[in-house]
Amino acid sequence: GDLEKLQRRPPVVTIMGHVDHGKTTLLDSIRKTKVASGEAGGITQHIGAYHVDVEHNGEKQQVVFLDTPGHEAFTAMRARGARVTDIAILVVAADDGVRPQTVEAISHAQAAEVPIIVAINKIDKEGAQPDRVKQELTQYGMTAEEWGGDTIMVPVSAIRGENLDTLLEMILLVAEVGELSANPNRTAKGTVIEAHLDKAKGAVATLLIQNGTLRVGDILVAGCVFGKVRAMVDDRGQRVDVASPSFAVEVLGLSEVPAAGDEFEVFLVEKEARATAATRAEKLRQSRLMQGRVTLAG
Ligand code: GTP
Ligand code: NA
Ligand code: MG
Repeated sequence: GDLEKLQRRPPVVTIMGHVDHGKTTLLDSIRKTKVASGEAGGITQHIGAYHVDVEHNGEKQQVVFLDTPGHEAFTAMRARGARVTDIAILVVAADDGVRPQTVEAISHAQAAEVPIIVAINKIDKEGAQPDRVKQELTQYGMTAEEWGGDTIMVPVSAIRGENLDTLLEMILLVAEVGELSANPNRTAKGTVIEAHLDKAKGAVATLLIQNGTLRVGDILVAGCVFGKVRAMVDDRGQRVDVASPSFAVEVLGLSEVPAAGDEFEVFLVEKEARATAATRAEKLRQSRLMQGRVTLAG
């Protein structure tokens, strides 16, 4: 049956936290230490996601990071109740502690039931007080494991690359508990992470594959947009023919630019895909008209 076809998939991770607490530095630092510069594409980032290989339990495993948590896509997905992330890394600067956006990030993750791992960052700084961070977090229902709770908190220095391996280990541990799986043998579905119009290439969309395998030549509908995958580029800038669950790829061949946060799915019959896209576009047009009327009336 279908269940037998489920296979483990890598965790999809986002990094959240207060402004200037080190989200970007942490993402960059993990990428630099984990993506060898000799590899195709090297450490240059091509799309709003990247994966790293991590040795875990004697096996090579992967972790996928999305680096656009502040984006409209996430707002749209949250509004829809969609869940694209498996694990949230909450970055809290040890010299600044819990701040308003830390609290906001905690409530978003808790509302979406996404497990949180805390990265207590900037431990290299003189004024760093990791224990104060742990203390403050107890007010939000998060108690560190070493204090008898069940929240994993890892002290790190993003800037010095300290303890990032431990952080990655913890991500894989939490992923294991979550038993993340997908069926690579079905047609692909997932979410549009970002999309734009390129003068030369036309509509370009970064798609996160959440189930199935996406292939060049596949027919899909993303939101209200019809498309036929003409080419795909992975997170290391390589042209690829297939993309598996949890990975993000940049896709060419959409007829228009879909909205970030839109869901996409592959269709086997082109006529059906075109009809679905057209129906959805019409529905969207109608609802916009209605909204316009309501606004006018109100
Ligand atoms: P926004 O995207 O603006 O919300 O900020 P951010 O959370 O991405 O923080 P960013 O990575 O831009 O870092 C903010 C500042 O903190 C920069 O000056 C970084 O160099 C510094 N910083 C980040 N991580 C560390 C760290 O581990 N130690 C020290 N000392 N500084 C750090
Ligand atoms: Na910043
Ligand atoms: Mg940043």
